[in-house]
Amino acid sequence: MFNFILFGPPGSGKGTQSEKIVGRFGFIHLSTGNLLRQEIQDRTPLGMEAKNIMDKGQLVPDEVVVGMIDSCLEKHRDAKGFLFDGFPRTIAQAEALDKLLSLKKTSIRKLLALDVTEDELVKRLLKRGETSGRSDDTDEVVIRKRFNVYKAETEPVAAYYERDGKLERIAGEGSVDDIFKKLSGLIQTEIDTQQSVSAQ
Ligand code: AP5
Ligand code: MG
Repeated sequence: MFNFILFGPPGSGKGTQSEKIVGRFGFIHLSTGNLLRQEIQDRTPLGMEAKNIMDKGQLVPDEVVVGMIDSCLEKHRDAKGFLFDGFPRTIAQAEALDKLLSLKKTSIRKLLALDVTEDELVKRLLKRGETSGRSDDTDEVVIRKRFNVYKAETEPVAAYYERDGKLERIAGEGSVDDIFKKLSGLIQTEIDTQQSVSAQ
């Protein structure tokens, strides 16, 4: 199994690149943001609770998102690999993910981190807010709050994986296709390395 985390601040292109990566490599895409928005659309109790939190730019409790990830991993037992997008977002989530994966005798290969400046991120999100219908995109105060939460709670997750030599930083500005080339090159290298190890 090949499991990757696509990491980066709000608006860095995780969702955009995930779609392309999943199209090329056939992994299962797990975006906790998308899963939560589906709960909101279905008007479930979990969705209603999450909406209040998301509209303020804060994080949904760890146990809620870890529970969602756990059931998705169960649902796709035969997956070739998983691409995590927007998860893990705290050290506690990273620890929980490592545990869940080790129970399945697998682990994270790499955390691929997209680097984008804050000004570019605000610009992208305000622009998307004009059409996306995402309530957390329209108000610059909420967008800035999402960045602050990212810096305080999520950025340390990169260092957590760096300790194991799993962090790869990628410049996240430029054309979508150029960024995809860099990401898919890194993923392909991991797959080739694994195949040459198993051939020995
Ligand atoms: P989530 O849905 O994960 O949102 P996010 O991380 O804030 O990021 P976005 O989805 O806004 O951006 P993205 O990086 O996917 O970029 P995209 O490709 O869309 O989370 C939303 C909320 O849910 C959180 O705030 C939290 O409340 C909750 N939540 C989710 N996961 C959680 C967790 N694990 N724990 C707790 N709470 C959780 O691109 C953005 C825009 O830029 C698009 O318009 C795109 O077209 C454009 N764009 C993309 N690439 C480029 C490029 N290269 N050049 C120019 N424009 C580009
Ligand atoms: Mg996204």
